[in-house]
Order: sequence, then C-alpha cells, then structure tokens
Amino acid sequence: MGYTAGLLLRTACLLSSVLEHAGTLRVTMRTHSLEVVQGDAVILPCSFFTMSPLSRLNIVWTLTPFSDPRSPKQVIAYDHGQVIEDPALIGRVGFVDVPWRADVVLNNTRVSDAGTYRCVVSNPPEAGDPGIGQLSLSVLAPPSLPMCLWDGDTVVGSSVTLTCVVEQSVPVPEIQWNKLEPEQIPLPVNMLGDLKGTVSIHNVSAQNSGLYRCSVSNHLGIQNCYISLNVYSALSPSPGILQGVLLSLSMAFILLVLLVLVLWLHRSGRKRKWQEGEEEECYNEIRYTPTLLRRSFV
Ligand SMILES: *[C@@H]1O[C@H](CO)[C@@H](O)[C@H](O)[C@H]1NC(C)=O
Ligand SMILES: *[C@@H]1O[C@H](CO)[C@@H](O)[C@H](O)[C@H]1NC(C)=O
Repeated sequence: MGYTAGLLLRTACLLSSVLEHAGTLRVTMRTHSLEVVQGDAVILPCSFFTMSPLSRLNIVWTLTPFSDPRSPKQVIAYDHGQVIEDPALIGRVGFVDVPWRADVVLNNTRVSDAGTYRCVVSNPPEAGDPGIGQLSLSVLAPPSLPMCLWDGDTVVGSSVTLTCVVEQSVPVPEIQWNKLEPEQIPLPVNMLGDLKGTVSIHNVSAQNSGLYRCSVSNHLGIQNCYISLNVYSALSPSPGILQGVLLSLSMAFILLVLLVLVLWLHRSGRKRKWQEGEEEECYNEIRYTPTLLRRSFV
C-alpha cells in the first residue's frame, strides 16, 4: 500500500516536471568561443530541445562583426523547411543537420567573419527558455605584406621617419625595424596603433645610409619589407639642386632675350619718331641707350 502510494507520488512528480518543460524550448551552446585560422572551415554549434513537432521550426543565425559592431546581419535562416542565406555568404555557409540541430558550417573563413554569433530558435507554440544562444568567433590570420615608407629630408643634419604599415594581422603583430648594413642593428620602434610602427632618425649623417628592414610577425607567420636610405651632404649638389640651377640659368637667358627685344623695339620706335621730327624726346634716349646695352652684355 505504502509502496504504491510512493510510486504514484513519484510518477506524478515526474509527470508534472515533464509538463512544466513541455511548453518550453531550450537552446544550449556547446561552446561559447571558437578560434579558426583564416581559410579553414568551422562549425558553429547550437543545440535545442523541444517537445513539439518541428513543422513550425524557425532558426535564425545573426552576426555582429567585431570590425563593425553597429551593423549586425543575418547569416542564415531556416523557416518552414526553407533555408535562406545571406547573399554575401552563399556557398560558404550551410546548416549541418537541420532540422534536428541548428549547427552551421562556415567554409573558407575570412577575418571579416569574426564576431558574435547568435542562434535564435523558436518552435511555436513553445516559448523559448531561452531560445537564444551566443558564441564568439575569432578568425586568426598571419600578417599581410607590410608597406615600408619614409618621410622627411635625407640631407645631412635633418630628420627622417621610417614607417611600416600592415593591413591585416590577427592576433596583433610585433613590428621590428632593423638596419641591415654594415651590421644588423635593431632600432627603437614607436607604435602608432596596432598595425603601424615608425622609427625616427634625427640629425642624419652618411652613416645612416643603407638598407633597412621592417619585420611584421605573429605566431602564424612573418613578412618583411625593405627601404634603402641615401643620405647626401648639402655641399655636393643633389640632382634636385642641379635642376634648380639649370632652371635659373634658363630663366636668366629668357630675361636677357626679352631685354634685348625691348631695347630693339625702343630703338626702332625712336628711329620712326626721328623721321617724324620729334627731336626733343629722342636726344635724351640716345644718351642712355648705349650704356644700358653695354652693361647688360658684360
Ligand atoms: C563546406 O565544405 C565542405 C568540405 O569541402 C563541403 O562538403 C560543404 O558542402 C561546404 N559547405 C558549404 C555550405 O559550402
Ligand atoms: C649632428 O651630428 C654631428 C655629427 O654627427 C654633430 O657634430 C652635431 O653636434 C649634431 N647636431 C645635433 C644638433 O645634434
């Protein structure tokens, strides 16, 4: 008698707990953070538990990219037996085992795929408890080819800044600058953000001439770029200065030609005036013109 009552009570308890959960759908994420190397595939796991038939199952995956958190987007959805992908991801994203699981595969990953993914599952008339799961995906990438630039003046005594910029590297790279000739010397790097490293050289001398290398590395790889610095002395004219001298010379020549032309026009005008009989004005000019001419040709 006591045994039967206990069994009944236990059964009632079990039944009530089943009924309590019957009306709710629960989503569980088997992991909350994932890492993948750019180019590899990754499965974003999302499991759900429901007691209702799956005829009205609806699954939506959204992404809030780390690179652009203000524009979340829909990655893929399952609704009434149909799959709808983000047009930008067609061919790269797909459900793995729908409708039994909400997992998706992301093929050929890119750094821009990194972000917070949310898996939203509903199966009316059940209510979600919660019907949402979340995970963060990091996409790692070796450094891309950096760019070496220089700015400043390469004349002895002035300052030069070497800059190394890399477009992409996850995790954040280490940037190093070395002078390679005649022996390898590491230089102090000033980081501007995570992807730019500069070296300032003040009061440059001939000893600063030579080949410089910037190395950008993270645990996935290393990339280099090079720059050759040629410091010249202000005493020996550089090609730029020579050009300037040539330009001044040719301008002086043009001025001279113009002067001769003006004088010649003046003189022929005077001759005409003489013929017209205007003697007074002409006498003044006769006195000055020859000296002017002589001086300009000395
Ligand atoms: C992802 O790649 C795997 C293996 O290459 C392939 O079987 C699968 O169909 C691809 N999925 C999508 C959505 O492109
Ligand atoms: C620049 O370098 C030269 C020789 O390298 C040195 O004599 C001079 O004092 C330096 N000038 C400054 C401002 O540091």
